[in-house]
Amino acid sequence: MHKDLFLGIIYLLGSLAFIVGLKRLSSPKTARTGNLVAAAGMLLAIIGTIVLHEKDGQPIGNIVFILAAMAVGTGIGWYMAIRVKMTKMPEMVSFFNGMGGACAAVISIVEFNTHPHSETGFLVVVFAGLMIGSVSFSGSLIAYAKLAEKIKDIFVSWLQIMNLFIVAGIIALIVVGVMKPEMLGHSIIWIIFGVSLVYGVLFVLPIGGADMPVVISLLNSFTGVAAALGGFLYGNEVMLTGGILVGSAGTILTVDMCRAMNRPLSNVLIGAFGGGKGGAAQGSDGDQVVKEISITDAAILCRYAQKVSIIPGYGLAVAQAQHVCHEFEKILEEKGVTVNFPIHPVAGRMPGHMNVLLAEADVPYPKLIEMDDANPQMPNTDVVLVLGANDVVNPAAENDPSSPIYGMPIIQAEKAKNVIVIKRSMSKGYAGIQNQLFFRKNTRMLFGDAKDALEKLIAAVKDM
Ligand code: TAP
Repeated sequence: MHKDLFLGIIYLLGSLAFIVGLKRLSSPKTARTGNLVAAAGMLLAIIGTIVLHEKDGQPIGNIVFILAAMAVGTGIGWYMAIRVKMTKMPEMVSFFNGMGGACAAVISIVEFNTHPHSETGFLVVVFAGLMIGSVSFSGSLIAYAKLAEKIKDIFVSWLQIMNLFIVAGIIALIVVGVMKPEMLGHSIIWIIFGVSLVYGVLFVLPIGGADMPVVISLLNSFTGVAAALGGFLYGNEVMLTGGILVGSAGTILTVDMCRAMNRPLSNVLIGAFGGGKGGAAQGSDGDQVVKEISITDAAILCRYAQKVSIIPGYGLAVAQAQHVCHEFEKILEEKGVTVNFPIHPVAGRMPGHMNVLLAEADVPYPKLIEMDDANPQMPNTDVVLVLGANDVVNPAAENDPSSPIYGMPIIQAEKAKNVIVIKRSMSKGYAGIQNQLFFRKNTRMLFGDAKDALEKLIAAVKDM
């Protein structure tokens, strides 16, 4: 069989593997194999390219360099992936995403330098890939540093205007580079690269804590689009398909996240999101008092309730309490209590974080209910157990216009008859603001590690 045809078939199989893999990622039950199927598709495409790709009748050169670079990349990726803790996954995803953006930017730079005087269409694709890839690279590194709490939100009021100017400037540079390439000559590629890197930094820096999920999925879609443009440059079908899948899936996720956070997409792009506005550490506990509850009293409340809702948050992941949580749910159900798990779309630190954790512990999927379905049921819920969640149940999002999370939909835990909050201290959540729920009349705090507290609750309920 002709090599080109064979390679085409391999690319088709690789593309199909991406599509099947992505489809399987839509359910926690099939996600693991979905990931493997997509990775197998990528491996097939890489091997096919190295072995079969030819240009002007010549096979791929520099094989030793290619294999060495792949070995280094695989080694680092493997090491990071096996060492990463579940709670640090979002940082790693952000970092890897940034590397994808960097690759796309490098492809544009290399292609520009090897075909400096190409036609308009080619230049548009090169510059667009460079801009999107560079923004994704620097933006993702800032997102990584923010998630890892290495840097804080930096908000100055003129930043949004400046970001608008920078975007306009990059577009103007691209127009010049395409229409009048002789004007800035070869340096145009480096100027666009540099300004795009700066824009990536400036548009993520001010994004407020609670709004980070939207930015992360937006950057994800950027990397996909940049990779697709790279595929376009090379006329490589599998790269194009992979990029389009990541780009479109990321865009859908971004739009969904915006809806979940009640934020317009246009605001994300210029870094005009909640957060900053000088309020990142607002909300005070002042001289308000919190009421504590003992394990025994909490166990009695749950055991004799008709309906208990467990609202999981990031603390559940930190404590790795998902298995004990399922055990607690089963014991309550055995005693005749109805239990469900209202899930906030941005609870935890990555999309679907809580769904994945609870699925890992075999919590039946129908027990997980979406925020919009959970909220109308709150007044009829006897006990809400807030398990390591904070921002996603903070009433300030609904009633304090000065709060950085104002406007974000929340799970209305405060409307339940009784609220028990399990957390270790009065520490703030990701958005860095105090939670008024903790001071409400119907709220009692059960201080401690989520896993430890649940184990004690299980023991107490068993004795009843
Ligand atoms: P957070 O608001 O971050 O609150 C988590 C709480 O868990 C903390 O207040 C902490 O209090 C408690 N905690 C930590 N370790 C614990 C342990 N071992 N046992 C018990 N409690 C523990 O979490 P959330 O309510 O899930 O909200 C998520 C936040 O992250 C939102 O602001 C969201 O926008 C942001 N975010 C989300 C994503 C995605 S995509 N989901 C990505 C980036 C950022 P103590 O220290 O007192 O225990």
